Amino acid sequence: MTLRLATLVGSLRRDSLNMKLARWMQARYHDKLEMEILPIGDLPFYNTDQELDPPPVVREFKRKVKDADAVLIVTPEYNWSIPGVLKNAIDWLSRVEKVMNGKPALIAGVSNGMMGTIRAQLHLREVLASPGVGARLFPPGGNEILITFGDQKFDAAGQLNDEATVAFIDGVIDKFIDWCRA
Ligand SMILES: Cc1cc2nc3c(=O)[nH]c(=O)nc-3n(C[C@H](O)[C@H](O)[C@H](O)COP(=O)(O)O)c2cc1C
Repeated sequence: MTLRLATLVGSLRRDSLNMKLARWMQARYHDKLEMEILPIGDLPFYNTDQELDPPPVVREFKRKVKDADAVLIVTPEYNWSIPGVLKNAIDWLSRVEKVMNGKPALIAGVSNGMMGTIRAQLHLREVLASPGVGARLFPPGGNEILITFGDQKFDAAGQLNDEATVAFIDGVIDKFIDWCRA
């Protein structure tokens, strides 16, 4: 059976490299993963006054994350951290019904530079470990999908053309699936 993976992408930009990575993964692993990319840009700003009776778009978002077997977060780094749109989505997930609690989670990111979103990923790990979120993080040693110089590795059609990177991601995905099922 395929693993259902709710996917959050931390960039709203039309030509986002991170969205390209998420879509490329969706196509490449379609026989192993049922990846749904959730539109986090449609969520309103988190507001405690609304959390007990949130707007339908928030309810639907939380339901989809709750029903998924695991969560994949694909994000750029903004100012050494995660983009606000992603933090906002996670804040909704962290309140009332804490739908990320115990949920297996995998992180990936692509940047144009040589740091490949490492600082954002380190921050994200802290956020995902907080009590309201409490995700079950895939252990990082050797499993960090950090793609450097992304503009040179993705073509205009969104194909990832770097063999070593493709082989690395293939390996991480297989290990992640095994780990989720163990
Ligand atoms: C507001 C903002 C802040 C950024 N901060 C960083 C940063 O701290 N570190 C970094 O490597 N790149 C940074 N960048 C560059 C992004 O990594 C680059 O624009 C990337 O392509 C964005 O991801 P996307 O293509 O998925 O939209 C920043 C870009 C923006 C727009």
